[in-house]
Amino acid sequence: MDGNEWMKAAAEKDLKEGVPLPVTVDGKKVMLLLLNAEIHACGNECSHYGAPLTDGVLKGREITCPWHNARFDATSGRMIAAPALNDLPHYESRIEDGIVYIRPGGPHLIQMPEGKDDRSFVIIGAGASGNAAAEGLRRAGFAGGISVITAEQDRPYDRTMLSKDFLSGEAPAKWLPLRSEKFYSRLKIDFLTQHRVESLDTPSRKITFQGGESISADRILIATGGIPRRLNIKGSELRGVHTLRSLTDCNRILSEIDQAEQVVVLGAGFIGLEVAQAFRQRKLSVHVVAPENIPLGRVFGEEIGRRIQQVHKEKGVKLHMGRTAQEARGDDRVREVILDDGTRIAADLLIIGIGITPAVDFLAGSGLVENSAVPVDTRFQTKADGVFASGDIAVVPDRFTGGVRRVEHWVEAERQGQHAAKAMLGSTEPYSEIPFFWTRQFGTSIKYIGHVRKPDRIVFRGSAEDERFLAGYYENGTLRAASCIGMAKELIMIGEKMKRGEHVNPEQLSDIGFDLFE
Ligand SMILES: Cc1cc2nc3c(=O)[nH]c(=O)nc-3n(C[C@H](O)[C@H](O)[C@H](O)COP(=O)(O)OP(=O)(O)OC[C@H]3O[C@@H](n4cnc5c(N)ncnc54)[C@H](O)[C@@H]3O)c2cc1C
Ligand code: FES
Repeated sequence: MDGNEWMKAAAEKDLKEGVPLPVTVDGKKVMLLLLNAEIHACGNECSHYGAPLTDGVLKGREITCPWHNARFDATSGRMIAAPALNDLPHYESRIEDGIVYIRPGGPHLIQMPEGKDDRSFVIIGAGASGNAAAEGLRRAGFAGGISVITAEQDRPYDRTMLSKDFLSGEAPAKWLPLRSEKFYSRLKIDFLTQHRVESLDTPSRKITFQGGESISADRILIATGGIPRRLNIKGSELRGVHTLRSLTDCNRILSEIDQAEQVVVLGAGFIGLEVAQAFRQRKLSVHVVAPENIPLGRVFGEEIGRRIQQVHKEKGVKLHMGRTAQEARGDDRVREVILDDGTRIAADLLIIGIGITPAVDFLAGSGLVENSAVPVDTRFQTKADGVFASGDIAVVPDRFTGGVRRVEHWVEAERQGQHAAKAMLGSTEPYSEIPFFWTRQFGTSIKYIGHVRKPDRIVFRGSAEDERFLAGYYENGTLRAASCIGMAKELIMIGEKMKRGEHVNPEQLSDIGFDLFE
């Protein structure tokens, strides 16, 4: 369907007002939508990882993807919220003699804005947030200079794959880049790779690099993400001991994997457990050591945490919960890990996955950092004029609790970057997204929406045991967050309701008969 030819898509009678219809036309997956008696047609594959959008939730014109909650305008195909970066293909449509016909409706890729703008914007950080902001500036029509700085050697790539399919060997390296070189050159987005920023002078907006060079900018976005925590134990400097944040880190681990049979992972958080799973897929023997009693219990609650623990056990991961590592021993490289109870575990690789600290060292003295992170207002503006911050380093006002939050999620970092881009161009619209993240544990995707530090009540619809549930996290009687396996549409609706300020009480949430889709 590349030409201008009208193609038969469906019978008119199969369309129902407000119900997206999946069809295949000339091999292309298309979503037809009858809305207010008008017909619309867009691609039906999410531009993130390709989920069928008709399995998602439509509210008004907006459709939310069932896999990782990207949002699109289902009438125009326009991307509204990450993790999708591209719009959907859009088709023209018409009805004749009871048959719906469609044909391609023009380009759907971001275009380089026309016109001239002498301003120059610099983004420090080429990760989730920095990339989304750079693209967001062009989407918003900014025609001036955009430079993106990164200490890494790579341009933006899908960091979330590093602990999953890339480490397990299922995803080839060519799947990692978020964009091609051609894309960035077409949009005139310049990169300064392997450039580490050493300081920022906020009044003059002058950025100084390691080595002394410097540049200034009219607007700056800081999106420097996190630095993995190192463990301060004897032997942690041995070869074979790694953290995992960047593609370079991941490639270092992979370069040693052929000689490895046994791996010890310190930390049973998302990264630790995903790494354990990837190594099991490679048939390595894997031990996970962590001080808490139940993996991810603090995030998802004990019931779900126990289920995750069970799945890992069944897949052959040896979990040492309630334990800490005291020492790594070896000669030229790590050979064994000694736990606090004296247990000795042979190890060819030791992966430390015990969290991150925000990468803000270079901001010392800038006045922008409080409690090791960067507070911003609802438009990601820091205390310094023309300097913005987003992603893992940013402490943002949370309109749902009236407090603040700092989260370390891919989707949130991208959405913040997209919003910050508009703010850099003068938009005063406040940020109003609800955080969302997902993790994959041995083929099962667990999704989470909202934010709560310590829920005082967790209520289930379905059960963790059956691996099909929606869990609601309450704080003082208010629903603050929800997680799910399988019930992706219900999770999206919980997010919708939280946004609208609608209360879902624990009895309603647990009652399978209570319709969340109203
Ligand atoms: C292995 C792994 C798997 C993950 N999986 C998931 C997942 O499944 N779901 C999820 O929601 N989240 C996941 N995350 C978390 C997610 O990747 C982060 O929340 C997200 O990348 C944060 O985006 P960011 O733009 O703030 O920072 P980053 O993406 O970390 O980007 C930071 C950028 O800043 C640059 N930088 C830092 N300091 C300097 C400096 N001084 N000078 C110049 N450049 C600098 C870095 O080089 C990098 O380009 C995962 C993280 C990792 C490491
Ligand atoms: S596949 Fe749609 S958001 Fe990931």
